[in-house]
Amino acid sequence: MTTETPPTTAGQGSPHEPVPMYGTDFAADPRQVYDENRPRGTAVPVELAPGVEATLILGYDAALEVLRDPGSFPKDGRAWEKTVADDCPVKPVMAYRPSCLYADGERHARLRSALQDPLGRIDVIDLRRHVEETADSLIESLAVRGEADLVGEYARVLVASVFTRLFGCPPELAERVILALSRIIDVEQAAEANMMLTEALADLVLLKRREPGPDVASWMMAHPARLTDQEMMDSIALFFGFGTEPQHSLIANGLRLLLTDDRFAGDLSGGNLAIEDALDEILWTDPPLANLGFSFPVRDTDFAGTRLPADRPVLVSFAAANTDPSRAAGSRVGNRAHLAWGAGPHTCPAKRPARLIATVAIERLLDRFPDMEVAIDPAELRWRPGPFHRSLTALPVRF
Ligand code: HEM
Repeated sequence: MTTETPPTTAGQGSPHEPVPMYGTDFAADPRQVYDENRPRGTAVPVELAPGVEATLILGYDAALEVLRDPGSFPKDGRAWEKTVADDCPVKPVMAYRPSCLYADGERHARLRSALQDPLGRIDVIDLRRHVEETADSLIESLAVRGEADLVGEYARVLVASVFTRLFGCPPELAERVILALSRIIDVEQAAEANMMLTEALADLVLLKRREPGPDVASWMMAHPARLTDQEMMDSIALFFGFGTEPQHSLIANGLRLLLTDDRFAGDLSGGNLAIEDALDEILWTDPPLANLGFSFPVRDTDFAGTRLPADRPVLVSFAAANTDPSRAAGSRVGNRAHLAWGAGPHTCPAKRPARLIATVAIERLLDRFPDMEVAIDPAELRWRPGPFHRSLTALPVRF
């Protein structure tokens, strides 16, 4: 998001001083920021971008309470939107779109069912094969070089290719979608890339209306929810926008842990078990969507000893809730009570395919390059600034 430098990350001054969640300090060590601010309460004032105030929920129980109460914490932020500038860097994520992420009640249930049912139709054997084939061909192209950036040259490309296959994009359309997705991350190119993605997805909707096939886009179209073309577009955009980002971060964050943490690093040949354990650990400690679950109370609300003003966004810190000291006891391995997939009505509908894609992507790479190592001092790895994601800028390795 923005790289503007905030005054401080701690926000320990007055109890009302907002904690900046932008800039490189927050990106470098968000955990420290959560921990330093826990004494202020479970709901703390934050700034998502310069001048854009919100409340961040840090505690596990409070997070569940917010996520499970859409009546008090609705998702439609159109009143808030009027108060922020058009070029506000968090607006593209939080501004209302007619897709399920921004809807509540019956409308949410209808739009969500048109995503969830098609996701449930994905054949896991086919999906595994898709991911294996995509991973293997990428790995072969990297093998001759002996070095690679696993974020830009592996995780991102793999996820974009798998998604376009799931959606039945013919090669030319897939290329346009993949190019747009690769540029969307760059603030300078984001607007143009967004336009490119929108146009490519519009063409995909037209194509699937004409020639449906055995793919997620066609299943969405045939769903009894009877999505309009606009709803189809926004729902597919949500899939790509909200699916690909956390998906490649899960792969990259998992690889980083496996390659740099002694608890896992000695065990790369141990195969699947080490990978599953590493993914569990990431979902607890470095969830790819670190802070989201945004809502916009329509009236002033008293919550956990804090007054939440009407129309000021409330975000849930899945990362802080997962590491809430009052809850974080015992082993994390095999324990899936974390909030990395959210909770309540908007919980991620793609947990199973997402986890499978990450497992297979990591497995193929480590099988092929068991001696792979991070090419720089792991302390030098950098995280993308911004309040929402926990995402490496690059993961350079040699093998
Ligand atoms: C195949 C890949 C993925 C797809 C297609 C996907 C899709 C979606 C969609 C459509 C939603 C909105 C659901 C609703 O509003 O009812 C959602 C929510 C969510 N997803 Fe995923 N997702 C994927 C991967 C991931 C990954 C890897 C993570 C992180 C581990 C993740 C974490 C979340 C979270 C935390 C939410 C809740 C957001 C909120 O409450 O605001 N997703 N996902």
